[in-house]
Amino acid sequence: SRRVTVRDIAAAKQRGERWPMLTAYDALTAGVFDEAGIPVLLVGDSAGNCHLGYESTVPVTLDQMVMLSAAVVRGTEHALIVGDLPFGSYQESPAQALRNGARLLKEAGVGAVKLEGGERTAPAVELLVQSGIPVMAHIGLTPQSVLALGGYPVQGRGEEAANQLVRDAKAVQAAGAFAVVVEAVPTELAAQLTASLAIPTVGIGAGAECDAQVLVWTDMAGMTAGRVPKFVKQYANLRSVLGDAARAFGEDVTAGTFPGDEHSFH
Ligand code: KIV
Ligand code: NA
Repeated sequence: SRRVTVRDIAAAKQRGERWPMLTAYDALTAGVFDEAGIPVLLVGDSAGNCHLGYESTVPVTLDQMVMLSAAVVRGTEHALIVGDLPFGSYQESPAQALRNGARLLKEAGVGAVKLEGGERTAPAVELLVQSGIPVMAHIGLTPQSVLALGGYPVQGRGEEAANQLVRDAKAVQAAGAFAVVVEAVPTELAAQLTASLAIPTVGIGAGAECDAQVLVWTDMAGMTAGRVPKFVKQYANLRSVLGDAARAFGEDVTAGTFPGDEHSFH
């Protein structure tokens, strides 16, 4: 059976259908989400924080994104796989964005790429799309700018910031993006963007009116250590499930109760 395409995504907006997106960073986890029917999987550069042990997405390299994206493609059959272009791999010029976006298609086999920025990165979006690379844009809070932003504050508050966000959304739509992630934006503004755009909005911390919703899988499944952001709903507590399994294994080994005869050869 064929994979979800950007045409299916456009048709869903026409029909007013909402859809879920999750991040994935490895073949096994991606396979679980694919079997669960999640139609779009994002190999996010949140892999920096959530998979590779960095403090932010800033250190993530294109080589790392190619490796993780290729694993997610191999582990799935149905989902549209979107690969993030990491910090520094597209800001220089549209030509740089095309060169590196093409690597994600050719070497990892993704069906689309994502990059951060609105008006500023619209020329890169336009060249990618015209070259045959589907692009998901990402506006509002853009985590690759964490150092310039001084953290992860809610975006689009106040008239000037709200107007800029509307211009950013219109710019990436005009440049040909097939969808746009809207991150950490007041519900009312995200609803206004969603109503005014022909392409779907994919919300994270942007309220219930978006066309789609995305969560980082380690947050969604309760794998993340410590506090999670306000906008996260935890649907499982994998961290405690896995910790319990590891503790039980450790206790069995120290007690000499594993392996049992049923796990042994004679
Ligand atoms: O890297 C990521 O996981 C993302 C999503 C939060 C949209 O960009
Ligand atoms: Na990202």
